Amino acid sequence: MIIRSIEFVTSAATKNQFIQDELPQIILSGRSNVGKSSFINAMLNNQKVARVSQTPGKTRLVNYIRINSQFYFVDLPGYGYAKVNHETLQAFKTRIETFLATSRSLRLAILLLDIRHMPTQDDMIMRNYLIGRGISILYVLTKLDKLSRSQALIQEKKIREHFGVDANERFITFSAKTKANRDLIWDMIESSLKSESEEIQSVGETVR
Ligand code: GTP
Ligand code: MG
Repeated sequence: MIIRSIEFVTSAATKNQFIQDELPQIILSGRSNVGKSSFINAMLNNQKVARVSQTPGKTRLVNYIRINSQFYFVDLPGYGYAKVNHETLQAFKTRIETFLATSRSLRLAILLLDIRHMPTQDDMIMRNYLIGRGISILYVLTKLDKLSRSQALIQEKKIREHFGVDANERFITFSAKTKANRDLIWDMIESSLKSESEEIQSVGETVR
């Protein structure tokens, strides 16, 4: 992917603020502190576009970042962080649910999982929801730099087995620190962006 432009478009809180144009949206989903915002920054070689913090619960709104006027990265608030108070947690949850229920241009969900931990019940709920909506999932196992190579292989295998095998689900390891597998992930994103336009093209050809 050649990145020609990066535009921070908006931070949205409620339904009428969510972007409903036709550009495909690639959503970053996962537990609080898993590395969603860091992932965006590392992929874009830009340390400022998405806000990162040591404190979980940093991303509170739905942030839209437009790339090459072609698609959006949507940085979502994290789920499942017990230490923010109950009302805040509930507000995040409602915001994510409304976003998912009302957004029509979701092309790919990048579901981030910390490679050191097994998926939580919240991860499974999110996964099942996305499958139900027919949205392809790319699992990115983050913080690869925190494990040795052999530990990482063991964890990757365990996490994959936990999910079982599904043709629409792919797994890849990643580190925002070393940028391991950055190019491979861009290839996967590009192919998901292409797949739909090819489908549209082939429908057009049938009509003609
Ligand atoms: P919320 O916005 O709270 O949902 O969190 P987030 O998922 O956006 O996580 P964020 O990107 O803010 O990162 C949380 C912490 O993990 C920060 O201290 C990051 O520096 C750190 N971090 C993220 N990715 C990596 C990684 O690949 N390697 C290492 N070593 N640290 C990482
Ligand atoms: Mg964040």
